[in-house]
Amino acid sequence: METDLQNTNVLSTKLASLTLKNPIVAGGGPLAGTVEHIKRCVDAGFGAVVTKTASTVWYLQHFPRPLYKLVGYKTDPSDHYYEPDDYFWLHREHNSSFTPMNFVKIIEQAAPYAHSKNCKLIGSYSARFTDEWTQIATAYEAAGCHALEINFCCPFPPEGLAKSPDDNRVGIYYTKHPEEGAKIVEAIKQLVKIPVFVKLSPDGSGFVEMAKLFENAGADGVTMFANNKMLRVDIETGLPEIYGPGPGTAGAFKAMAMRFAAEVKQECSKLAVMGGRGAITWQDGIEFLMAGSDAVQYCSPVMIRGLDYVKKLIEGMESYFARKSYKGVEDIKEIAMRKIYTNTQLAKDVKSLYAKVDPSRCVGCGRCKKSCWYDAISVAKCAGIVKKRCAGCSLCSQVCSAGAISMHERENEREHFEAMAMAHPDLVTEDYYSI
Ligand SMILES: Cc1cc2nc3c(=O)[nH]c(=O)nc-3n(C[C@H](O)[C@H](O)[C@H](O)COP(=O)(O)O)c2cc1C
Ligand code: SF4
Ligand code: SF4
Repeated sequence: METDLQNTNVLSTKLASLTLKNPIVAGGGPLAGTVEHIKRCVDAGFGAVVTKTASTVWYLQHFPRPLYKLVGYKTDPSDHYYEPDDYFWLHREHNSSFTPMNFVKIIEQAAPYAHSKNCKLIGSYSARFTDEWTQIATAYEAAGCHALEINFCCPFPPEGLAKSPDDNRVGIYYTKHPEEGAKIVEAIKQLVKIPVFVKLSPDGSGFVEMAKLFENAGADGVTMFANNKMLRVDIETGLPEIYGPGPGTAGAFKAMAMRFAAEVKQECSKLAVMGGRGAITWQDGIEFLMAGSDAVQYCSPVMIRGLDYVKKLIEGMESYFARKSYKGVEDIKEIAMRKIYTNTQLAKDVKSLYAKVDPSRCVGCGRCKKSCWYDAISVAKCAGIVKKRCAGCSLCSQVCSAGAISMHERENEREHFEAMAMAHPDLVTEDYYSI
């Protein structure tokens, strides 16, 4: 099916006061660092494009050596288009080579094109002092940005290369000092009418509290997340791979980003959330939306696959919406987030389980026994499970390749706790069973 990228209504979505034609956003970076690249991103079909961050310590872009290092990126000579799922990307790229006030000229030239194609242009920059932050904000707005993404995530502290101590007060400094960041948000919001998003570093902590500070300062949304610094080692040489920022190419980053993005969305009702870091496939984007994001940023997956990939993301989402009969993105936003279990709900609503083997399927391989840490399984020709020992952890049923193990609800909750303590019943106190 050929996609009409201009008229994909089913994917249209609200992001703060903006309406995007789809929720797929080009994350700030090399995808959109020049006039030509921004235009190509627009043509690729992104709902919005975040520009490469320009910062007032632009000279930090002078130390990216080597620029990119892929660790564990497997190629397949028999399939030139093979894309590995799991690898690390370490890099040393920081800001644009151009100062923010020069980047304004790039925005001025690219913005009319983005406007004409119904693609929102989000200007990204970082600065040190409040007057720098506000001056650039007004210049970016005047140049045609639909929104700003103020970069509180990179560059990282310039690691001895700062020309003055003030150069350390940039980028990630504001994720680490959110009270100061909130003052900057407040100052910018007094001057510009376009929405302001704050991009956070995963190297921070206390994201809900931090997001509340930005919400109270008037921010329209947060972007969660940028890269954080990572380390890998080549065990053949004993040398570290470059020690640098890493995007979400390795699976677990998505789960972390989704968790914090969902928590912020739950607690900060006025903030829009752009999720990202680890969204690789269109399915990942759907997950982010269901977990509370209003739009989803993709950066490194598009950098490595090329801009044609955006069309695949759009088509994948469109087919999904058709298959599931969803009428639009608003139908799926937050649906999973609203059902995230609290501990009290879990204790009240979720029954304990035990495992049962279907002997007609079991091939006696013993795989289940190796993963049972409650000593409930024995295997002769076929696996046998002792119900009173089974803690219902369900690992065995998930590792069994024969599909021979099924999980069942327990009638009696006490049996579950007895199974958990089966090895040392004399060591538990009686109130263990009644809490
Ligand atoms: C090479 C490279 C350069 C990047 N440069 C920027 C940047 O200038 N500004 C920014 O806000 N984020 C930058 N990022 C971070 C991405 O926008 C994105 O937040 C991050 O890579 C996680 O998303 P992903 O897993 O989709 O790549 C860069 C990422 C990469 C890989
Ligand atoms: S893993 Fe499955 S097939 Fe193998 S012994 Fe256990 S139940 Fe049987
Ligand atoms: S569910 Fe867990 S505790 Fe029960 S038999 Fe399987 S692995 Fe053992």
